[in-house]
Amino acid sequence: MADEHEIQSHWQKNPVGENLVGSLGEDFLDDHANFFDAYDKWYYGGQEHVLKALDKFDWRDKRVLEIGLGQGSDAEQLIRRGADWSGVDLTAESIRRVGERLRLRGLHYRKLVQGSATALPFNNGDFDIVFSHGVLHHVPDILSAQTQIRRVLKEDGRLIIMMYARWSLNYQVAIKFVRRLGLMVLYVLPIDFSGIYAAHKRNAQRVGLVNYLKIKNFIHRATDGPDNPYAKVYDRSTLQRDFPDFELVRTFKRYMHAPPLPIHGLPGESVFGWHLWAELKPRHDG
Ligand SMILES: C[S@@+](CC[C@H](N)C(=O)[O-])C[C@H]1O[C@@H](n2cnc3c(N)ncnc32)[C@H](O)[C@@H]1O
Repeated sequence: MADEHEIQSHWQKNPVGENLVGSLGEDFLDDHANFFDAYDKWYYGGQEHVLKALDKFDWRDKRVLEIGLGQGSDAEQLIRRGADWSGVDLTAESIRRVGERLRLRGLHYRKLVQGSATALPFNNGDFDIVFSHGVLHHVPDILSAQTQIRRVLKEDGRLIIMMYARWSLNYQVAIKFVRRLGLMVLYVLPIDFSGIYAAHKRNAQRVGLVNYLKIKNFIHRATDGPDNPYAKVYDRSTLQRDFPDFELVRTFKRYMHAPPLPIHGLPGESVFGWHLWAELKPRHDG
């Protein structure tokens, strides 16, 4: 299983979304303001449900810790919704970008620090809410992470997360069948591919096609690009297993997205959506 150094180096080299929006350095010539505008337009344009999902919770005057910040779009949204916000990310690059975003936008926050979900640099009972969007399914040592989150939450605090959904069209149809089948075909074709297809083909040549396409291996490479070291899909029972110090309050699914199936934005996200949101509260029976 991937270790934390490998995961850190992946996200440091591949800041989230840059492969789709363009690189801050090369395409935006380090114009941070322009980059953040373009990034948010792309992010909330394709995933408008995120803003609606954030509005289901009351952030005002709550001490909030966000884990795994990426480009800081949600950080900005939480602060604009009144959160007394702190953030932690595994990579120096995300911390630098989020610091620059919040400075450029004139937004106040409490603490922004490099660190891991598995060793949170915060005191016991510091937060009303821990929020983590699209991050904890990339943390192999999830049991340590949930212990740490339980520790930094107040007794009546809440954990709000978005994890990839096992019972989604993306996992059950696109990843398990369509993309694996597509890669088998691509593997035998005597054509030089570029981009992610070439990267998948190289990976498969390195470890063997059958091994690469075993779902327990392929899942890591099928969510956040062919070099992504670790990913896991979740349902309610996996959530309960991986977060034993918490009780589920509610879950809901969003985001019809299952490339290459042309279903983006179609109805049905609450049943087939790729993003499983969950609200959890600390268990008190232990
Ligand atoms: C897929 S991005 C998600 C970013 C953002 N939350 C979003 O939804 O756009 C994952 C982020 O989590 C960070 N990350 C990965 N593992 C982490 C860990 N163990 N602790 C803290 N941050 C982590 C990565 O550095 C990266 O910035």
